Amino acid sequence: MPVFSASPLVAQLEENLFSALENMLARVDTTHLPLIDLSSGSPRQPTATALVSTLQIAAARPENHDYPSFWGKPAVRQAIADFYQRQYGVLLDPESEIAIFQGAHIGVTGLPRALLSPGQYLISTDPCYPLYRSAAAQAQAQFYGIPLEAGRQFQPDFSQVPENVARQGGLLMLNYPHNPTGAVASPALFEQALDFAQRWQMPLVHDFAYAAIGCDTEDIPPSLLAQPRAKEWGVEIYTLSKTFLMAGWRFGFAVGNASIINAFKKLHTHSYSTVFGAVQDAAVHALNLPDTEIRDFTAVYHRRRIWVLEMLQRMHWRADSRQGTFFLWLPTPPGYTSRQLTERLLLDAHVLVAPGQGFGACGEHFIRLSLTADDEALSTGLARIAALKLFG
Ligand SMILES: Cc1ncc(COP(=O)(O)O)c(C=O)c1O
Repeated sequence: MPVFSASPLVAQLEENLFSALENMLARVDTTHLPLIDLSSGSPRQPTATALVSTLQIAAARPENHDYPSFWGKPAVRQAIADFYQRQYGVLLDPESEIAIFQGAHIGVTGLPRALLSPGQYLISTDPCYPLYRSAAAQAQAQFYGIPLEAGRQFQPDFSQVPENVARQGGLLMLNYPHNPTGAVASPALFEQALDFAQRWQMPLVHDFAYAAIGCDTEDIPPSLLAQPRAKEWGVEIYTLSKTFLMAGWRFGFAVGNASIINAFKKLHTHSYSTVFGAVQDAAVHALNLPDTEIRDFTAVYHRRRIWVLEMLQRMHWRADSRQGTFFLWLPTPPGYTSRQLTERLLLDAHVLVAPGQGFGACGEHFIRLSLTADDEALSTGLARIAALKLFG
């Protein structure tokens, strides 16, 4: 059987963080002590039954059986515009300022390809969602991550970007609430990002995947687009995956600067497929739900965060209590790198977490713990970790 080598572009892509974890997992015998997975970024809650019913009815409609338009149905673009106006007071033109696609993943990898020239820099943070590094590589661009420090609440210091990087910068890409550190943005951070984009004349993409999960139920994370200059410089990526517990449905969109949206739409017609019409119909339903119902979807993560932080405190594990997203970013105990701690938890407690180093070199002394496992699994996993007495 002939064996073909991957293209140079594919060969240079780093191993996916979670496939690396799978290799580690293969070494563990879970026959007597089942594995508890506290690494996952999937919401692990069912989608609301009303949305499932909408999809079921819409799936039977013949109009949804043909190829859908690349641009999305007018109704879904209008629902996105209404949602942004209601949530953030942002006015959008459904024709020119909105693009829909199959989940934020497509926006995260597609926008850099639509905007960067080979050799330019995609500037983001270190650590960051690993797909950003891969997105730069897929666009034949270089990656620079602004080091994030706990002392600065994991907010980037744009003055740290070396001048040669900024000069060759083709895209600034941020993500707040931030995966993996849980940091949340203030409008002031977006102002600094816009200053940087303007100074170096580069577009800004804000990945707002955790838009609905701030530090607590009252904390509504700000949208980049609510900043006065945002539409001049940037777009925001939104996804239904986390806000509406619709990760498997694959629906996301980008909103903002018309020239950026236009470049992405052109790439879309060449590279990606369209969104199933019935999923678009369900998205219209979701985006029109009352705010109180939307908040209920993610309330469980806030509740869990409170008691998990208490359990960690009892283990003398110091964690910042102001963290958004459905993850906790935890410093490793003295003497452990992120991989060493991940291996120890896996081998001795059969608990799987995500090693911080997988998100960038600055994550070397952290692990990411997910709050998406159910209450019982989470408390059993934490009890097993407590028994290891990592902090004496
Ligand atoms: C920061 C960030 N961006 C984008 C995504 C991708 O989301 P989607 O399910 O919409 O593709 C994720 C998923 O975990 C994420 O954490």
